[in-house]
Amino acid sequence: MARVFSGIQPSGELHIGNYLGAVQNWVKLQYQHDCLFCVVDLHAITQPYDPATLAQRSLDMAIGLFASGIEPARAIVFVQSHVSEHTELNWLLNTVTPLGELERQTQFKDKSQRQESVPAGLLNYPVLQAADVLLYEATLVPVGEDQLQHLELMREIARRWNARFANGFAFPEPQALLSTAKRVLGLDGQAKMSKSLGNTIGLLDPPETIWEKLKPAATDPARVTRKDPGNPDICNIFTIHHGFSPPDTLKLVAHNCRTAGWGCLDCKRVLADNMIAALAPIRERAAVLQADPRTVTDLLRAGADRARAIARRTMDRVRRRMGFLGTPEA
Ligand code: TRP
Repeated sequence: MARVFSGIQPSGELHIGNYLGAVQNWVKLQYQHDCLFCVVDLHAITQPYDPATLAQRSLDMAIGLFASGIEPARAIVFVQSHVSEHTELNWLLNTVTPLGELERQTQFKDKSQRQESVPAGLLNYPVLQAADVLLYEATLVPVGEDQLQHLELMREIARRWNARFANGFAFPEPQALLSTAKRVLGLDGQAKMSKSLGNTIGLLDPPETIWEKLKPAATDPARVTRKDPGNPDICNIFTIHHGFSPPDTLKLVAHNCRTAGWGCLDCKRVLADNMIAALAPIRERAAVLQADPRTVTDLLRAGADRARAIARRTMDRVRRRMGFLGTPEA
């Protein structure tokens, strides 16, 4: 069985963009592969953040993952900072990572432009990401397109470490597993859906909130009046429909959009009903977990224990091959 690793930042809210673009696929992958899913809190601190809310955001993200259908019996779910081997391997991999490659990462360039003082951690973000995956010798990494450059660098780091140190043990070169889902934009129809931009529908939003947020959401900009025909192919609401409505509904929606048979609100009402129905069981499971955070932290502790057992084996091999003096019991 192939090993799968993926990570998600503890933004505090799992939204329908995360769900349709990533988490729904993770739920499927857990039936086919040996999966690890990680709440990457160490990555989250590379940008300005509030330490007072970090722990709760990690917990909420884990609740979102479990409520979405990731089963602790099938996949290892854990919080990155609970397994200190991530930071240890990160340091070791720093020594084989070319600085120029880090400086060329578009994510680094974008994020560093938005900060007055750029911390070295932001530059080294992709090295930590490489450590995440290589620590478990994972070969499949489900990610969005925006992570492809990080994956390319991850392979480069593996190759460089292997060229210098491999001896019986070598890191496999991980492959991206690109999601086939159409990318959902934020409700503004402009930027990607993101909690920090305030353009999301949360996976756990109550029905009234879903409807309140959908009503003013951007549609085909050329459709100004109720009588204008629309083009569903360029409408973000239609993209979201794909995630929640069955094929016959999609056909009906597209037809009524093109012929102006329906107004955008009619289309959104159908979407809201389907979305509310699809998310209801997730909200119910989340409510149970929210009422019992102890169970969630226990699950995360067990997940970290299982992850650590694999990570330690890798680190023993890595340390030995890099030539460190062993500790007495080793
Ligand atoms: N950088 C990823 C993102 O922003 C999150 C991430 C961290 C990740 N470590 C990972 C994804 C390892 C895949 C594998 O989406």
